[in-house]
Amino acid sequence: MYVCLCNAISDKVIRKVIRQHHPHTIQQLRQLVPIGTDCGKCIRQAREILIEERSNIPEMNDVA
Ligand code: FES
Repeated sequence: MYVCLCNAISDKVIRKVIRQHHPHTIQQLRQLVPIGTDCGKCIRQAREILIEERSNIPEMNDVA
């Protein structure tokens, strides 16, 4: 499913980037994938995906 129609970025791409690079904020995510560069309608959904994915990633302290 496309999250950002302007740049043809799917939720799969966003999830993959979050899992690989662990951005903490939507600003950091935007440095990794070109979302929100045009109309900005995708930012809300991208933020929800970021929150969802981050809740699935264990913090380093929890792993050890
Ligand atoms: S849908 Fe992402 S900038 Fe327009």
